[in-house]
Amino acid sequence: MIQIENLSKVYDNGFEVIKDLTVTINKGDVISVIGPSGTGKSTFIRCINRLEEASSGRIIFDGLDLNDPSTDIDLVRRRMGMIFQNFSLFEQMSVLDNLTIGQIRLLKRSRKDAVERAKELLETVGLANKINSFPEELSGGQKQRVAIARTLSMDPEIILLDEPTSALDPTMVGEITAVTRNLAKQGMTMIIVTHEMNFARNVSNRIFYMDEKGIYEDGTPEDIFENPKKPRTKEFIFHIKSFNYTLDDEHYDYIELNNEYINFAFKNGVNEKNTNSGRLIIEELATIVPKSPQTTITFSAAGESNAFELICVYPAEERNILSDDNLSAMIVKNATKTQEYEYTDGLNRLTLKW
Ligand SMILES: Nc1ncnc2c1ncn2[C@@H]1O[C@H](COP(=O)(O)OP(=O)(O)OP(=O)(O)O)[C@@H](O)[C@H]1O
Ligand SMILES: [Mg+2]
Repeated sequence: MIQIENLSKVYDNGFEVIKDLTVTINKGDVISVIGPSGTGKSTFIRCINRLEEASSGRIIFDGLDLNDPSTDIDLVRRRMGMIFQNFSLFEQMSVLDNLTIGQIRLLKRSRKDAVERAKELLETVGLANKINSFPEELSGGQKQRVAIARTLSMDPEIILLDEPTSALDPTMVGEITAVTRNLAKQGMTMIIVTHEMNFARNVSNRIFYMDEKGIYEDGTPEDIFENPKKPRTKEFIFHIKSFNYTLDDEHYDYIELNNEYINFAFKNGVNEKNTNSGRLIIEELATIVPKSPQTTITFSAAGESNAFELICVYPAEERNILSDDNLSAMIVKNATKTQEYEYTDGLNRLTLKW
């Protein structure tokens, strides 16, 4: 459907982001583009619909060379929908008008047909009852679903999404995943830039891992998440990610701690069972550890392998809080595989693994 040949992109300041990228995108592909920040993921998909001009190379869409002056780029863009992270709805228009305006003005549909199509699409994104609402009355997840419906109203053949869930609460990511997965089932071709590894795993048939100015590794979700072959992919996928929290006094903000932990676990693809056991361990440990500005909890997850380590550091006299005779200590011991304790330089350090 799209052939990209030797695509290179150098920004005006001389910065080369993409070098010699060649890849074929097939009809029906649902591709998640992942990789560290700044590796050109957005640049890559913006080049595909020429929101960004390629410096060299060719992009052939359905036989049309996008750089050929005789190609009607507006027409091509209409066939490629684009979804951004910030929804970009027309705020002063109702949901219905957001969905009909393009159809009427660009596709020259009658108002009646446009309204009919808008209703159908709102149905498919679960928002039939919001037809007369205005964007400001909707939640982020709902706005993004309207944005998707609006894009679909132009009958695109491919949809490019740049971090469609990044401006949303974690609780709303599921709504977009569900809608996107339905589109995938219906055979829609999609390229999705995302930092949500669960999202990438759940919706795509191909993953592009971007690094070193191109698609560094291309494979199925299983290839990339379970058996990445190249060193940088391995580093990215299995990289030990960690999050750190200071328990400064007895009135530490336990809701914030819990919330940060849940977000961290979700972002890093920790499965539900392990997320829950981690939460229990952190909660119980936080209850019994002596609080001080030097008391920290560092939780690390080795990516998809679901191996966890929690390091808890607290000052004062030598004392292993897990040796205490209380319920919290017992729960933590039961929930973890190993518990190492050491005391150095006035700091107690507990290392728990499970
Ligand atoms: N208009 C521009 N002019 C100059 N440099 C740019 C421009 N746009 C992006 N860049 C640079 O190009 C590199 C790639 O940017 P890009 O936005 O494509 O990365 P990304 O992979 O999407 O990153 P992120 O995950 O943070 O969104 C970055 O180093 C960025 O600073
Ligand atoms: Mg980006």
